[in-house]
Amino acid sequence: MADRTQVVILGASGDLTARKLIPGLFQSFVENRFPHPVQVVGVARRPWDRAEFQSIITERVHCDEGDKARWDEFMSEVYYQQTHLDSDDGYTELARTLNEIAGEAVNRVFYLAIKPELFLATVTGLHASGLLDQSTGTARVVVEKPFGTDLESARALNAELLRMLGEDQLYRIDHYLGKETVQNLLAFRFRNAMFEPLWNHNHVEVVQITVAEDVLVGDRGGYYDSSGAVRDILQNHALQILALVAMEPPSSLQGDAIRNEKVKVLESLRCPKEVTDDRAHIVRGQYWGYRHEGGVAEDSQTETYIAVRTYIDNWRWGGVPFLLRTGKGLPKRFTGIQVQFHMPPHSLFGPPDACHLRPNALNLRIQPHEGIDLHFDVKAPGSGNEMVPAKLNFNYEEFFNRRIPEAYQRLLLDVIKGDQSLFIRSDEVEESWRWTDSLRELMPDTELHAYEPKSWGPDAAHSLFGECEGRWAKE
Ligand code: BG6
Repeated sequence: MADRTQVVILGASGDLTARKLIPGLFQSFVENRFPHPVQVVGVARRPWDRAEFQSIITERVHCDEGDKARWDEFMSEVYYQQTHLDSDDGYTELARTLNEIAGEAVNRVFYLAIKPELFLATVTGLHASGLLDQSTGTARVVVEKPFGTDLESARALNAELLRMLGEDQLYRIDHYLGKETVQNLLAFRFRNAMFEPLWNHNHVEVVQITVAEDVLVGDRGGYYDSSGAVRDILQNHALQILALVAMEPPSSLQGDAIRNEKVKVLESLRCPKEVTDDRAHIVRGQYWGYRHEGGVAEDSQTETYIAVRTYIDNWRWGGVPFLLRTGKGLPKRFTGIQVQFHMPPHSLFGPPDACHLRPNALNLRIQPHEGIDLHFDVKAPGSGNEMVPAKLNFNYEEFFNRRIPEAYQRLLLDVIKGDQSLFIRSDEVEESWRWTDSLRELMPDTELHAYEPKSWGPDAAHSLFGECEGRWAKE
């Protein structure tokens, strides 16, 4: 295969390119992480030339003074090509330009930073112009979420794309998988022998996963109103975290070994429609003022908050509730996992019915304040038997004393290297839609609670916890 790579960003005039993709690529360049030389070609409709694209990027990307010389060096391999992705001629011309820029055989990465409606047409154009041919170098395609809007559309998109590409050429991105703390879930679970024996229904009472955001929908109302919290975050980021928390040890760290185990978790997720207990298991909310956001319908029924109680019907997790929650307009931005352990079988230190006392929990702080806390009770010194909650904590920043790499840096590097472990396979995407569709079918019959921005969402969300299962974590 070729010993250089051309990263082609389609839709390069968008925010993602300047905010995430170029900074991620540049960081890998500065840290000398590329396995071989990399060229970057921005492609968009805008009638820019190369110099204009370079100066726009340079203005928008923050670069430390000390890295200025490296930035110029990086920029010397950054190109631009104006292309109308909806015209067949556009692709022929694009192919010609890309070949000219490359000069010789290259591996190609096509990053589709474009509207999902254009995924199929764009891959079709790339395919027809020969750009996906792999006879002299690899050709990989990266697609952003959302991948489909339900199971049927995701299946159709998979089928169409896989007619033109092999699964090994298709990189479905979920940027949460590039976060260092999300990757650490496997290391934490399978490198440390002390937690794994506890990681099952015998010891775990309930697992909570929260993706909380303080931001409102901002200028994304048009997109968000047709997506909602369920399709924007729950179907992808939250279910991916759940799969990593709940999966069995993979046979190796190879892409398919990990993905085989993740997909089994998703297959075992009980569809919300099949939950038969009569407790609440879905709470939806919409923040006050959402209907006045730009692009949002005046009578919108879209949820900006969702909390779900669900189960994984397998041997390890039988009967353990998994509580998932995400929302916008909450008091703070935090993503975290809380694994709450059972009470001791016999209570020497408190009344046996004191089910509000839940001393043992493990909190995995995904972001911000990345770290891990282990909660337990200690006897207050000098007291009879007064119990006080205490915690052991590990903070990434304090411990490593260095910057945590951005998700996109790692993910782009993995595409260049051909490592698919942090990307979603077709069966994973379909399984997560299976569960999500079942949830969405129930939503019209579920009350949409209004909540104040900067509150923790509808009070009704507390009803998802059983009597002795604790309450929602706030960090
Ligand atoms: C995106 C969603 O996938 O993730 C956004 O579309 C959300 O609505 C964002 O704000 C959150 O990402 P992060 O990395 O800031 O937690």
